This record gives sequence, C-alpha cells and structure tokens, in this order.
Amino acid sequence: MTTRKPLVGGNWKMHTLRDEARALAEGVVSRASEMEGVEVVCFVPYVWTCDVAEIATGSSVACGVQDVSERGQGAYTGEVSCDMALDAGATWALAGHSERRHVIGESDELVGAKTASALRAGLCCCLCVGELLEEREAGTTDEVNRRQLRAGLEGLGRDEISRLAIAYEPVWAIGTGRTATPEDAQAAHEAIRAELREMYDDAVASSTRIVYGGSVKPSNAAELFAMADIDGGLIGGASLDVESFVSIGRAAHEAVAQESVGG
Ligand code: PGA
Repeated sequence: MTTRKPLVGGNWKMHTLRDEARALAEGVVSRASEMEGVEVVCFVPYVWTCDVAEIATGSSVACGVQDVSERGQGAYTGEVSCDMALDAGATWALAGHSERRHVIGESDELVGAKTASALRAGLCCCLCVGELLEEREAGTTDEVNRRQLRAGLEGLGRDEISRLAIAYEPVWAIGTGRTATPEDAQAAHEAIRAELREMYDDAVASSTRIVYGGSVKPSNAAELFAMADIDGGLIGGASLDVESFVSIGRAAHEAVAQESVGG
C-alpha cells in the first residue's frame, strides 16, 4: 500500500434478493466510518442499483455495476448501457471480470470496448485481468495480464484513464479459497504497473490503483494490503457478509495508517 487511496470493492455477483441487497448496503453504509480513507464500492446486480445507490447517498460508499454494454442505446434486448447505469446512481463499473471472460465468453476485444464505453460515459471503471491455472503453471501469468491489459485499454489515451482501476484476479484463486501468496500477487501487480508505465508514463503507472482479488478474507487481507503495489481488493464471497467485508475494508484503512506512521 502506498499513497494511492486504497480501493475495496464488494462484487456481489448474482447474489441477493432485494431485501438482502438493501440490508447488506445498509450494513456497509452504517459502518463506513471504520473504513475511513478507503474508497468503498459495492458492485451490485443491475436490478438493485437504484436501491443501493439511494441507500449510499450522502455516504462515502459508492454503488457500481458488474458489467456494462459497450453500446449506447438501441435495439439490444437485455443489455444495460453506461448511461442507464449512471442514471440509476452507479458511479463505477467492472469490466472483464473472469466470470464474464471465461463463463459468459467475453473476448479481450469486447472487454476493451466495454472499458472504453464505461470510461467515456463518465463511470469509474475497474478492468479485471488474470491468468487461468494452466497459464500460471505454464509460466505465462505476466504475458496473459499484459495481453488483457493492452486489449482492455486499446485506444484509450492517458487523459481518458484517470477514472481507471485495475483488478488482478488470478482465476484459480476466485471463489476457491486458494489465495495467491502476497509475494506472488505483488510480483504480478509490479509487472502490471510496469506495463502501464510502458503503455503510458510514470505518472499513470504510479497513480493507477491495482487491487487484488481472489479469496480475500479478513484473515489474509492485511498481509496482501501490506505489499507495495497492492492498493486494495476486489472481494467476492466475503463481501456478502457485512462483518467480513468491513473488516477487510478496515485492513485497507490500517495499511494506510501504518504507511503514514512508517513514512
Ligand atoms: P472471491 O471472488 O473473493 O469469492 O474469490 C473475487 C471476485 O470474483 O471478484
């Protein structure tokens, strides 16, 4: 963790009915002060965007969506545009989550189009990248991340990515209880930051938040957030429980506090 403001996102995936979503949002909002100095975002199912955004109004918690269409309005049955998400109160979107890439089948190019559409519409966008187990075993982690990063940011100039964050999420660690070691995660984050430097410049590389995702829990958050290039987390399973999510947010808050004491 460094001087970058930490970002902790809860990816609710396709969980929660309306009452549960409202209760979860109310729980997180009521404890926001424990996560002071941390940017907290709940990435909610589309249908609860208005509810969660309304509950979060006036708090430091933001509401995000888990995907957006790469297109504007039109005859695209079932799709949700960036303008709709914004109008419903979302300020953030995820793009390229591994479940969209590997379960739904989104290509690197489509993820790039979605990232561009989110950022250009005025949303903050968290672009997710990460390797499959076989890619890690083949030693191609950095290559995969580089490819997804390049395609994800295709055509975006440095002025267009001020609202961008990156989530590094090794696919084998998502929902499996298997977390990357802090050292392995740090190595991947460092390589992603180096790639941003190569693609843009030093200022972009040092200001862009890169968060880790994949079985982050209250018990392992602090050691991950202590790493120099890990700027917070994208939390799946543990974000569905207020206590767990807030204690992960608190770990991010404490990592910053320690940093400022330690200089
Ligand atoms: P997990 O999910 O924390 O349940 O592993 C992370 C994610 O998919 O963003």
